[in-house]
Amino acid sequence: MSLLAPWACVLVGCIFVSSAEVFSLSDRYPPLWNESPGQFSDYSVENGKYIIDPWVFPKRMGMYKILLNKTASYFEKFAPDNKQNLLWGLPLQHGWQYTTGRLVDPTRTTDCGYESGDHLCISVDSWWADMNYFLCALPFLAAVDSGLMGIPSDQVLLLPPPKDQTKFCLSVSSCQSSFPSTMRKWNAFYKSPSSSFEDLLKYMWEAHVSALKDGYKIFEDRLEYYSKPEAGFGKDWCVSLNYLAAAGFPTIFSTVSEFQKALPPRVLVDGDTAPFISDFTDLQNIVLLGLNLFHEVDSKTATRLSRVLFSSTR
Ligand SMILES: *[C@@H]1O[C@H](CO)[C@@H](O)[C@H](O)[C@H]1NC(C)=O
Repeated sequence: MSLLAPWACVLVGCIFVSSAEVFSLSDRYPPLWNESPGQFSDYSVENGKYIIDPWVFPKRMGMYKILLNKTASYFEKFAPDNKQNLLWGLPLQHGWQYTTGRLVDPTRTTDCGYESGDHLCISVDSWWADMNYFLCALPFLAAVDSGLMGIPSDQVLLLPPPKDQTKFCLSVSSCQSSFPSTMRKWNAFYKSPSSSFEDLLKYMWEAHVSALKDGYKIFEDRLEYYSKPEAGFGKDWCVSLNYLAAAGFPTIFSTVSEFQKALPPRVLVDGDTAPFISDFTDLQNIVLLGLNLFHEVDSKTATRLSRVLFSSTR
């Protein structure tokens, strides 16, 4: 692990230093946050079960909104307004995916997600949307299972996407049988309401990395729908998350909001080469280049943290 710490510090340090230079501290909630459901009764009910369609942007965002609300008590001892909630990273990242056009159908065979078409649609062919599913459905259903939501485990059903249904678990029981280790890790987080910030951070990242690993194996082939730079960025991003996890990056509202300003503001196309992308800020160019270097260094070092992630795929 000797190489890991300095590299992680460089990345995290770079982010903090650069974010200090960005003065806009306006608290930006994820897109459509106010319009998204905030309680179970905002969803429909069939045969005594709440039915949630996670392939519609505000409906998926609503799952996060409920989750943030129900975990507020874990974090109120650190600050009163829930802004120190470590789960903010999830909806903020999902919002970034939406605003930057990463949830649309990359194959363009449907109008799912496009401004001119069904703009709230989340495409099952989007690699980002599928990876995010594992960072939404699993933490949400594990929270239901842990009793946090105040409803029985079998009272929530997620609707399947239009295709590849078997790749997605839709209920507490099916997620537990398909992804037992990740569900256990999210449960460990929810079962520790009075833990220290550091312990909650540790539990959160363990579950987060485990969910990414589950998703990565299943959806790696989706990266073929994208340009080379975008597919490369997706992989680099996954590797970097392992380092952010190891460095204990605090995924609270303010740090993630700032951090996202440094991420590519649109899907990368062929010909995009950091640090020379003209419609990106200097910071966005540098961070994109940095994430790529990071992945290269990672693949050449013995400590290779990403082996955890890519182990079964190459
Ligand atoms: C959670 O939601 C309930 C019902 O909408 C609301 O009354 C409460 O203030 C919310 N709590 C937090 C911490 O946001």
